[in-house]
Amino acid sequence: MIRGATDRDVAAIVTIEAECFGSDAWSEQLVREQLAAEHRIVLVDDPVAYGVVSVLGDVADLDRIAVLPFARRRGVAGGLLEQLIEAAGGHGAERLLLEVAADNDAAIGLYESFGFTTINTRKGYYPRGVDALVMEREIA
Ligand SMILES: CC(C)(COP(=O)(O)OP(=O)(O)OC[C@H]1O[C@@H](n2cnc3c(N)ncnc32)[C@H](O)[C@@H]1OP(=O)(O)O)[C@@H](O)C(=O)NCCC(=O)NCCS
Repeated sequence: MIRGATDRDVAAIVTIEAECFGSDAWSEQLVREQLAAEHRIVLVDDPVAYGVVSVLGDVADLDRIAVLPFARRRGVAGGLLEQLIEAAGGHGAERLLLEVAADNDAAIGLYESFGFTTINTRKGYYPRGVDALVMEREIA
């Protein structure tokens, strides 16, 4: 079930972070800050996935979306992204931006299936020298 995250979800989110992002995972402290930030929407699909968007004015940023490895390719991220987009629209956002590593085929496949298009490339943006794609989608 997809719902808004609370402090009680911190441990589960930290586990998802560690499993999905390894050394780039957010710390428990950072997860707590995301939950407390007023302009951030944090949704969980308990207990396998979570996602974060931040909304500033009419622009939203997708900060995170992650699904535990065993639960992938079952539409979990798609369901979560749909609700994150709806929630961002409900907070006044008219478009959603994100950055994704150019070698992250799964995430790019997900975003393209939701109508995101690449509007910019940041060369060598990530520490390991991989480019970042900046992708955008309008929120209807
Ligand atoms: C990216 C990620 C969130 C996708 O989660 P998921 O639950 O497996 O995605 P879904 O099952 O909802 O897939 C929806 C669509 O995305 C695309 N997609 C998902 N995984 C894909 C893959 N490995 N390769 C290509 N396309 C893929 C497909 O179009 C898929 O539709 P389909 O299964 O009908 O073909 C997941 O792989 C993940 O957590 N990765 C690690 C964290 C990460 O990189 N997050 C993004 C950056 S913050």
